[in-house]
Amino acid sequence: MNNLLNIGVLASGNGSNLQAIIDRIENGELTAKIACVISNNAGAFALERARRYGIPALHLDHRLFPGRAGYDAALLEALREYEVELVALAGFMRIITPVLIDAYPHAIMNIHPALLPAFPGLHAQKQALDYGVKISGCTVHFVDPGTDTGPVIIQSAVPVLEGDTEETLSARIQVEEHRVYPKAIGLFAKGCLKVEGRTVIISPPPVLTTAALINPPA
Ligand code: GAR
Repeated sequence: MNNLLNIGVLASGNGSNLQAIIDRIENGELTAKIACVISNNAGAFALERARRYGIPALHLDHRLFPGRAGYDAALLEALREYEVELVALAGFMRIITPVLIDAYPHAIMNIHPALLPAFPGLHAQKQALDYGVKISGCTVHFVDPGTDTGPVIIQSAVPVLEGDTEETLSARIQVEEHRVYPKAIGLFAKGCLKVEGRTVIISPPPVLTTAALINPPA
């Protein structure tokens, strides 16, 4: 029996987002299967998390490949071997190339710790603090060839508080990451996401509250 969506998670570090996805699968809120976890970093705790759940955990060292495209070809081979249908980047600190993007059209997701298009790239939380915004958050988006530029699937906003450090803001954002990433994957798994131009259409249309996050409160 395997008509479950096969997810391949790519992660370079701690893997708390991977854990959030595992937890939702374990508690039945997310109907999907993690077919493999791949890391460019042998010491990534994400690999250890995968092993604990009997999920195939692969280390693919980018330094063994002369260029990004060659590395992505190796990633692609591994993803195909595990029959991956959705690729979820979860703290994967590598720029991926059209080799992978073209093989998974609108089937690669990324989580970014800012409200895109604000603060793309590295150190998004620090960028937000340096800019002085009062609200930041996280974004799950489909991956296109740009850096954090693909169609937005879901976003969650959090206040930036006086005295916040990169650590405290990151922690507040991560709570939201762990909510929205499994949610985005669940929508994909149910066939609810359609991309039209830059816009991700969700069906059936979600019922929204009109609650706004205002900081400072008004
Ligand atoms: C997450 O905060 C994710 O948003 C960020 O890396 C962290 C990984 O945490 N990704 C990026 O900054 C991508 N540009 P995790 O390993 O605990 O899931």
